[in-house]
Parts: sequence; C-alpha cells; structure tokens
Amino acid sequence: MRRFVPDLAPARMSDDSKRSNTTGKSETPAAWTFFRQWLKNPRAMAALAPSSRQLARQMVAQLPAGAQRVIELGAGTGVFTRALLEHGIAQRELLVLELNAELYGLLREQFPQSQVVNGDACDLDKIVKTSGFDASSGIDAVVSGLGLLAMPRSLQKKILKAVFSVLGPESPLIQFTYGPISPVPRDLLNELGLSMRRAGIAWKNVPPATVYVYTRSRSTSVRAVRVGDAA
Ligand SMILES: C[S@@+](CC[C@H](N)C(=O)[O-])C[C@H]1O[C@@H](n2cnc3c(N)ncnc32)[C@H](O)[C@@H]1O
Repeated sequence: MRRFVPDLAPARMSDDSKRSNTTGKSETPAAWTFFRQWLKNPRAMAALAPSSRQLARQMVAQLPAGAQRVIELGAGTGVFTRALLEHGIAQRELLVLELNAELYGLLREQFPQSQVVNGDACDLDKIVKTSGFDASSGIDAVVSGLGLLAMPRSLQKKILKAVFSVLGPESPLIQFTYGPISPVPRDLLNELGLSMRRAGIAWKNVPPATVYVYTRSRSTSVRAVRVGDAA
C-alpha cells in the first residue's frame, strides 16, 4: 500500500507567498527559485513553494519567552529566517542550516551577519561545534522547515537525536507539517523520550499547515537530574 505523504504543496502560491521577496541580486522571485530546486530534488524540498508569512509568524510565536539563540533547519528561501529576525532574534545569534547549495548561496547573500551553513541537519551537533556559533550559554530553540513527514523513520531519528543533543533541557524543536497528525510517530517520540504539543494551524498556508512543538518529556528530564545528582 502506498503511504500518503501530503508534504508536497500544490504549485499555487498563497497570497502571502506572492508577497514574499526576491532572492537577492538576480531579482529572481523566491517562489520560482524554490520550485526549480523542487524539480531537481522533490523529496528533499518536500514542498513546491515556500511557506507563507502566516505560517512563519505561527512558528516564531512558539519561541520560548526571551529566546535569544536560535538554530533554523532547512531555511529554503528564508521565510522563517526573516520572521525570526522580525521577532527580534539578532542575526549573529542565529545559525541557519540549509542542505541545498543554491539556496544556501542565496541565504548567505540575504543574511550576511547570520551564521549560514551549507550542511545536513543530521550533523547538527558537529556543525554547532565547528561553525564558531557560540552555543556556550545554550540554544533556546530549533525552528525546523524540514519535510520530516516525507523522511523515513531512521532519518527522522538521526535528525531528532542531533537536534536534542544541542538543545537545552527545556528548549523546544518547533516544526510544521501538512499532514493531519504529528510527522514524528508516537513510538519514535517515546523511544527518544520526547513529548509533543499541537500549537496551531496556519489556514492561509497552501496547503494549511500545523505547527508542532517537541520537548523532552518531563519524566526524562527528572530522570536525567537524578542520575546527575547521584554521580
Ligand atoms: C519544505 S522546505 C522548507 C523551506 C522553508 N523553511 C520554508 O518553509 O519555506 C525544506 C527545506 O529543507 C532543506 N533540507 C532538506 N533536507 C535537509 C537536511 N537534511 N538538512 C538541512 N536542510 C535540509 C531543503 O533543501 C529545503 O530548503
């Protein structure tokens, strides 16, 4: 039986996306650049068009109060990046990760003071260590635009392990999906000691998208503290 993977947005752009910017010097519309990358690698892109500003605002609204140091995964043409900066995250406090080389080049051009890295979310722990991004006082949140739903469980697991290896004990992973349920299955959440919360739906996004917030389960944090205390 074929698995239904709805993380592929239709070609039509939302009003918000139409308002979105061009991609730097070439003045190529961001949506066209995005679509061209989808033609090259639909599985990695996992959507036909960039997210809407409505979805970006809903993602950013889930940042913990006072969040300063943030990592963004799968930034694409920078819709969430711009929303993070508008929210007040300083460019130098933002590490932006993008696997696609062309999109990475555009992001570097647009966000020159941020730490933009051409790399794989699976390697996040190594990237944080080697990039010079100052993570000494903790990462407050990871905002992910990755198409997790379209990924096999093994890849999801690699990425989640890498993400939670850099996040502080209470810090969240903020993720969206076009699917009707969490893109990370319950059994994987249990295996990794994670909890999830559905945080809202961006109806104007095409297609509508749901925002999920993942954190370490309370019981896991308590266990971790007890082990530390005993040592
Ligand atoms: C669904 S698009 C989202 C783009 C943008 N955040 C948005 O919402 O418009 C997914 C993005 O993740 C990038 N990506 C896919 N796999 C990745 C990985 N393993 N590490 C880093 N980026 C990845 C893709 O190149 C693409 O730009």
